[in-house]
Amino acid sequence: MPERVASKQRPRGSQGAAGDRPRPLVVAVPKGRVLEQLIPRLQAAGIDGAPLSAKSRQLIREDRRHGIRYLLLKPDDVPTYVEYGAADLGVVGRDVLLERDYDLYAPVDLGIGRCRMMVCGRGPEDLERVYARPLRVATKFPNIARAHFEARGRSIETVFAQGSVELAPLTGLADVIVDLVETGETLRQNGLQELEKVVDISSVVVVNRAALKLERDRIVPLLEAFGRTGE
Ligand code: PRP
Repeated sequence: MPERVASKQRPRGSQGAAGDRPRPLVVAVPKGRVLEQLIPRLQAAGIDGAPLSAKSRQLIREDRRHGIRYLLLKPDDVPTYVEYGAADLGVVGRDVLLERDYDLYAPVDLGIGRCRMMVCGRGPEDLERVYARPLRVATKFPNIARAHFEARGRSIETVFAQGSVELAPLTGLADVIVDLVETGETLRQNGLQELEKVVDISSVVVVNRAALKLERDRIVPLLEAFGRTGE
């Protein structure tokens, strides 16, 4: 019987198929708002972010000169690819890491993608007047929301909403929301207010634990460069 290897911590071999060329270091990056801020940080760390600026639907982008392969992913999927070793390292918002448990090394806060996770509603009374029943909270972050209110001795009922969650208090789906706020413009345009801060958020580098051991010579200098260029 072939020996079974725990798939989550199994990195692919560090040689190419022919065994003569090192395989590229695979870096998972989030599509969307943070990507624009990430590109100059990659440049500053001495690798080429330019392949990520190309307007294209390609989900794999190569920086052949530095031996980097980028995977463009939905932000929520970045830690999954890194944890399973499909990517060696990645960049992800702390919100994603706080919401679910991952077995990852998270050594560097990049200080980009800064925003805040907030409890928001139409006004303070949305939080105060419903003590007779559990507060109903619409969110994409039910675990973070529960922990926030539990720490304040308040029981809540969560309603999962994937996006446009600002609609929930406006339509009666929920009393309040727990969501990310960056400029505050979405709240303003929908007549909502920030009521309580849950936590500050920024983007961090996450690394597959096995890859960190096996590709130490390539990964550690990169982490040091990210650290040096941090804010
Ligand atoms: C995020 C978040 C808010 C908005 C906040 O949504 O969920 O809706 O950004 O940003 P602002 O404070 O700068 O207005 P996103 O744009 O990712 O879309 P979504 O509603 O589909 O989640």
